[in-house]
Amino acid sequence: MALGKTESRHGMWSSRWLFVLAAAGSAVGLGNIWKFPYIAGENGGGAFVIIYLVCVAIVGIPIMMAETLLGREGRNSPINTMRMLTQQSRSSGFWVVIGWMGVLAGFLILSYYGVIAGWALFYIFEMATGTFDAVTPDIANQTFNNFLANPWLMLLCQTLFMGLTVYIVGKGVIKGLETAIRWFMPLLFVLLIVLLVYGMNSGGFQQGLDFMFRMNWESIDADAWLIAMGQAFFTLSLGMGAIMAYGAYVPGDTSITSTIATIAILDTVVAVASGLAIFPVVFANGLEPGQGPGLMFVTVPLAFGQLPLGALFGTVFFVLVSFAAITSAISLTEPALAYLVEEYNAKRARVAKSLGVLCWLLGIGTVLSFNVLADFKVFDRTIFEFVDHISQNIMLPLGGLLIAVFCAYVLPKAVVKSQLGIENSALWWLWKLLIAVVAPLGVLVVFIVTVFPCAQTLSCFGA
Ligand code: PHE
Repeated sequence: MALGKTESRHGMWSSRWLFVLAAAGSAVGLGNIWKFPYIAGENGGGAFVIIYLVCVAIVGIPIMMAETLLGREGRNSPINTMRMLTQQSRSSGFWVVIGWMGVLAGFLILSYYGVIAGWALFYIFEMATGTFDAVTPDIANQTFNNFLANPWLMLLCQTLFMGLTVYIVGKGVIKGLETAIRWFMPLLFVLLIVLLVYGMNSGGFQQGLDFMFRMNWESIDADAWLIAMGQAFFTLSLGMGAIMAYGAYVPGDTSITSTIATIAILDTVVAVASGLAIFPVVFANGLEPGQGPGLMFVTVPLAFGQLPLGALFGTVFFVLVSFAAITSAISLTEPALAYLVEEYNAKRARVAKSLGVLCWLLGIGTVLSFNVLADFKVFDRTIFEFVDHISQNIMLPLGGLLIAVFCAYVLPKAVVKSQLGIENSALWWLWKLLIAVVAPLGVLVVFIVTVFPCAQTLSCFGA
């Protein structure tokens, strides 16, 4: 069977490597630098890293391959790609829900992602101006709390970040996305190496290594598996069409299998390297690796503030986080943006502005949930927690599940085979097994246990 259209109307990545960088740019973000080090440390260190790798290998990589091949076959935004593929395979229009849900999930994630990334922007300024030079833990804490208590300042930072995102995506796939990716990704790798070397010389490297890599198998329980699987999804940007949208711009002769494996490896390397950059400076100061936002916005600045040239390297750290966040944010807008351009023949820059404003408005909910509306709860969660939960824990796994099932059971085998171009029959059967059985089952289990936490203890069933 011939491949789908050979080009997308939105433009094409200039080479296989640009797709690798773009998808890695989407994947590498706050999930790697802020979340991964902390959850790995809290969940058994090395043992957790291993189960996370298992999740990436048996669920993440197959679903990422599926998204890419669907995108390349359809050559359109996820919504129109799914429309086309359901017509082509004469299957139910229900599957287009993959596209719609992705657009919605992208919106919801970006609404809070922009706020947290705005914090990183603010911290570039704070580090550079020496706010954290030799401060006490109390003052570091106070600085973060004062910032959270100031909705106007937070709004300003969120606006800056969203403005930058809109500017880049409005310029188009080649002039906007590719240019940003060509600059930001290599810089990101360089900055990470600089920080790693700094961490190695900080005096806490051995402790950092021990913290990240001790094989603490006792702490691996059902919960740790859940966290590992959820993290694999979020960090690889799966289940919401970002990779499908990027897949639409992949040249026809690029091997999906090896390219996706490279992207997943890059993403994991960055996550592990971030841990090895962060923990040594934390331990070098005799600090405890705190939890959640506290690690990146209190402990890390505090730690840098105590070290020689700390203001400089702390600034570098937050520049790194901001670059990582912006290349993820641009991918969050792509499914909706491409769809609106296709549907209304609209100018990309105009659509980008409207989408940006909508997302910005939605993000105000997150801004306020840290101060004015801190006590306002939706199903026991603040607005931020609620939006985060719905998008990350429900929509992404559900999207991933539907993508796996569509690819394995609905799309004609000939299409999948020609897109993947796997010659080796053992490899083909391995892929089939993963996408048709292992990935959907894995996601289903995680999904059920996350949505119905009582299923973990069987208490929902009266046990
Ligand atoms: N992968 C990004 C991160 O690790 C977040 C993201 C999720 C981006 C879904 C796009 C789509 O921070």
